[in-house]
Amino acid sequence: MPTNDILGFGVIGCGVIGPWHAQAINSIEGVKLIAVCDVIEERAKKLAEEHGGEPCTDYNEMVKRDDIDIVNICTPSGMHAEMGVAAAEAGKHVISEKPLDVTLEACDRVIEACKRNNVLLAGIFQNRSAEGSLRIKEALDAGRFGKLTMADAYVKWWRTQEYYDSGEWRATWELDGGGALMNQSVHYIDLLQWLMGPVKSIYARTATLAHTIEVEDCAAAVVTFENGAIGVIEGTTAAHPGSPARLEIHGDQGTATWENGRVTTWKFAEEKEGDDAVAEAKKFADGAVSDPRAIAVEGHRRNIAGLVDAVRSGSPSPLPGEEARKAVEIILAIYKSAKEGREVTLPLES
Ligand SMILES: NC(=O)c1ccc[n+]([C@@H]2O[C@H](COP(=O)([O-])OP(=O)(O)OC[C@H]3O[C@@H](n4cnc5c(N)ncnc54)[C@H](O)[C@@H]3O)[C@@H](O)[C@H]2O)c1
Repeated sequence: MPTNDILGFGVIGCGVIGPWHAQAINSIEGVKLIAVCDVIEERAKKLAEEHGGEPCTDYNEMVKRDDIDIVNICTPSGMHAEMGVAAAEAGKHVISEKPLDVTLEACDRVIEACKRNNVLLAGIFQNRSAEGSLRIKEALDAGRFGKLTMADAYVKWWRTQEYYDSGEWRATWELDGGGALMNQSVHYIDLLQWLMGPVKSIYARTATLAHTIEVEDCAAAVVTFENGAIGVIEGTTAAHPGSPARLEIHGDQGTATWENGRVTTWKFAEEKEGDDAVAEAKKFADGAVSDPRAIAVEGHRRNIAGLVDAVRSGSPSPLPGEEARKAVEIILAIYKSAKEGREVTLPLES
């Protein structure tokens, strides 16, 4: 178990999201970005020049450094578990970009390796800490919605063909694990299940309609939650020009809607002081509706700072691997249902 006073970070993957991790790390007190790794050396060098850390190209070597305590995994999704296991075996805590990996077997592998090596594993789902998400969670926990009836996630975004062509791993089953669901909608599917609780069954259709890719760019699923509520998940990267991701939560005593981290409707049968102000909540930007780089660093900072606090205090991970795995399982159930043309019940066999 690492014991350095200043917690050292190593980032693997210096493409689009790596620099966000570096900036988030640099904004947290008592930690230091020690090394940044990419198989493309120029990317590691560029990130190091801009945000610090020593550039390197071999993650297996990097994770063994004594001055690194926490490893951030920012590589293609189907590589996350492999790198997480290497970091865990070297005794390092792991923070993994979404999705945790693209199969349940891989998710379980990194979860098991972190447990066995007594290190923490945290997933990245920065929307959970948005003000609007926390408000809705609090109201749900307080029972303000009454009997939960319907809950939906709508992610109608746009990605160009150039975006898909910008990396060989993108939109491949092997390394992206899917398309509009596994890459983009995963954030909001995580949020939906975090708020509503476990999904019991799924009936889905998927299609590839606006891009030349092997995975889906359109998906629609009817979801039944274990608590009896029903709802839909719609995810696409084929809806030009893209709209803010939206969640709707309804019960027989209340309704809340959420867009880009902000509560936009807040209505309950039993009103409480302060209710009027909630739908005015400050915008928490995560506006990647058409631009994959339009992401705020703040969400990542909160996610990473949560793990730092847990490491320092000896507390459990703020977003354990088992939690990060849930959205992956729901998405795999959607793919299975669409492929087999039938309702699929959870849990899936891993
Ligand atoms: N949380 C978010 O909002 C968010 C946003 C974007 C991407 N992501 C996730 O981050 C991950 C990376 O996405 P991206 O868009 O940054 O991809 P990217 O292709 O831009 O970057 C990935 C980098 O990993 C490097 N890499 C590949 N194999 C490697 C290896 N063996 N060792 C070291 N480096 C290696 C590549 O060279 C590349 O530079 C994905 O899992 C994606 O889902 C999350």
